[in-house]
Parts: sequence; C-alpha cells; structure tokens
Amino acid sequence: MKPLLITIDGPAGAGKTTVSRALADRLGYTYVDTGALYRGVAREMRVRQVDPEDEKGLARVLADLDLRFVRRDRVLRLLSAGVDITGEIRNPEITMLASVASARPEVRRALLALQRRLGAEKSAVFEGRDMGTVVFPDADVKFFLIADLHVRARRRYLELAGDPGLSLEQVEKDMQKRDANDAGRSIAPLKAADDAVYIDSTSRGATAVVDEMMAVIRDTGRGK
Ligand code: DC
Repeated sequence: MKPLLITIDGPAGAGKTTVSRALADRLGYTYVDTGALYRGVAREMRVRQVDPEDEKGLARVLADLDLRFVRRDRVLRLLSAGVDITGEIRNPEITMLASVASARPEVRRALLALQRRLGAEKSAVFEGRDMGTVVFPDADVKFFLIADLHVRARRRYLELAGDPGLSLEQVEKDMQKRDANDAGRSIAPLKAADDAVYIDSTSRGATAVVDEMMAVIRDTGRGK
C-alpha cells in the first residue's frame, strides 16, 4: 500500500485520540497528537508565568520552544527540551490555557512548520482541529469526528475521574467554552474540510468507528 497521510479533526471528547491511535496501529502508521503540542506551549507559558496577552513573553517562549515526540512502551510521550512533560499537560488549567494560546497567530505559526515536518514522510495519522483544513490540505484521507456534547463531556469526565472536586457539570461547561474558543477563533478555527468524511461516535465504540474509517480508506483507493 502507498503511504498515506490521514487527518482526524473534531471537537474535544469526540474520541479522536482513541480512534487515531487505533487506526494508526491497524495501518502500522505513526500517530501524531497535535493537541499535545498546543498543550506543550501552554505548559511552557505556565512554567515561565507568561500570559497569552504578553506578546514579548510569548515570543520568548516560542523562540525557545523545543518540543519532540518519542514513543516509549508504545505510548506517545512529549518532551520539552528533553524533559518528559506528558504527565503535566492534561490538567484543566493547561487544557484551558492551550485553547486560549492556540488562538494566537504566532503560536499557530510556530507549530505549523513543526507539524508539517512530522508529516513529511506520510504513513501517519494526525489528530487535531485544523489538520485537514490548514496544516495538511492535501492529506490523502480526511475525517471529521463528532459526538453529542453530553456524551463527549461524560467521556472526558470519566477520563479525569482521578481528579477530586471535578463535577460532570463543570467538565461539560468547560468543554462548551473550549468548543466556542476553538470554533470561534479567526485563524484556523475548528471546522471540517470540504472533502472530510463526517463520522459520528455518539453511540458507537472506537472499534466500530475505526472499522468504518478503514472502509472509507479502502474505498478511496488512495493506497493503491
Ligand atoms: O486535542 P486537545 O484537547 O489536546 O487540544 C488542546 C487544545 O489545542 C484545543 O483546545 C485546541 C488546540 N488545538 C488546536 O488549536 N489545533 C490543533 N490542531 C490541535 C489542538
């Protein structure tokens, strides 16, 4: 099969991570979680106490940015200047800061080149918000994964269940706010590419979704 570049965009909690990883495994491809890169920028901002309006501070963070993925025990880990920060980027504070920072043009510009470098070899599944629209408009197969807000919030709540003091209502409210940020920003907003295939994961598990994606990939004949 010819190496393909596959993109999966969609809102938070639609199941992108689980599905992207499983699809990449089935195809023997690399999986790239681009949200982790925005989270990595947010983590550096947090460490250096730079807020999103601080242009000079943000420029310094971006000039020093040194993010890299490595695979350990089949799990994707994010390194910042060689330090494994994977465990620091999923908390609610970094999650919201990543969404706010991702609306800054200089942040998107800094990550665009990095993402395109990572995709140069193809044979990859890229997960994000603007993969099929901005970063890889020529991707071979594009998916847009959606699910009802209620179901997405519930999934995220179960994922974060270790965090005491977090209610399902709060998770749903945060998610709604983040959806509005991500879809409402002026550059590279969350939206489906014209040629993306919509898949709804509201009432289906990851395996069924991946089966459907494999069928779509086969039907396109792009891998021949
Ligand atoms: O997918 P995620 O929840 O880990 O993404 C974190 C934030 O990063 C999300 O709120 C929006 C932003 N993001 C983006 O703007 N573009 C991407 N390609 C991926 C994520």
